[in-house]
Amino acid sequence: MNTYKGVSPTVHSTAYIHESSVVAGDVTLDADSSIWPLVAARGDVNVIKLGKRTNIQDGTVLHVTRKSSANPDGFPLIIGDDVTVGHKCMLHGCTLGNRILVGMGAIIMDGAVVQDDVFIGAGTLVPPNKVLESGYLYVGNPMQKKRPLTDSEVKFLKQSADNYVELKNDYINERLNAG
Ligand SMILES: CC(C)(COP(=O)(O)OP(=O)(O)OC[C@H]1O[C@@H](n2cnc3c(N)ncnc32)[C@H](O)[C@@H]1OP(=O)(O)O)[C@@H](O)C(=O)NCCC(=O)NCCS
Repeated sequence: MNTYKGVSPTVHSTAYIHESSVVAGDVTLDADSSIWPLVAARGDVNVIKLGKRTNIQDGTVLHVTRKSSANPDGFPLIIGDDVTVGHKCMLHGCTLGNRILVGMGAIIMDGAVVQDDVFIGAGTLVPPNKVLESGYLYVGNPMQKKRPLTDSEVKFLKQSADNYVELKNDYINERLNAG
């Protein structure tokens, strides 16, 4: 973890950060959240917040946009509870609600808002300021609203987050056992 301008990440005691990732500046991780190998989360020119039981998988980049006279709040990156962010995604200055799966390699740009219970397919590009509606699958570049989620897909959104809580607990135990 790195300090930037005197601000260090705030990490809940039950959260997990892999040793190979870089987490810098104003980044907050709430309970049971996890950051996996080779993630870069840089809260330097704005803030990054992760909710509870949210996982950010390997190789993902999290960044933000600075405040300016044209855009006084800039674009922070706010991610809710029970969100799964797959391998090698790019999340930049966007807002995600709860129980969302961001498929591998997806890109979500400044000002985009993803409502609760959304599935974003692998490789999807979400352009700036788009709003993704609760209960739908989105795929493609640029993204398209593909179809409503099935009941089992909605259940899977929470299941995926729960699986990653278990996995990070295993990794924390391995670390403790290694002394
Ligand atoms: C989108 C997804 C949920 C599958 O949805 P689905 O409706 O069951 O898709 P199907 O397999 O029935 O395919 C439907 C069509 O969408 C296409 N498709 C599937 N995934 C796609 C994707 N990510 N982007 C664009 N098109 C996709 C298929 O090729 C198929 O096209 P066709 O009708 O021309 O043959 C899945 O492919 C996906 O992207 N999952 C993300 C997994 C992931 O990244 N998890 C995180 C890491 S742990």
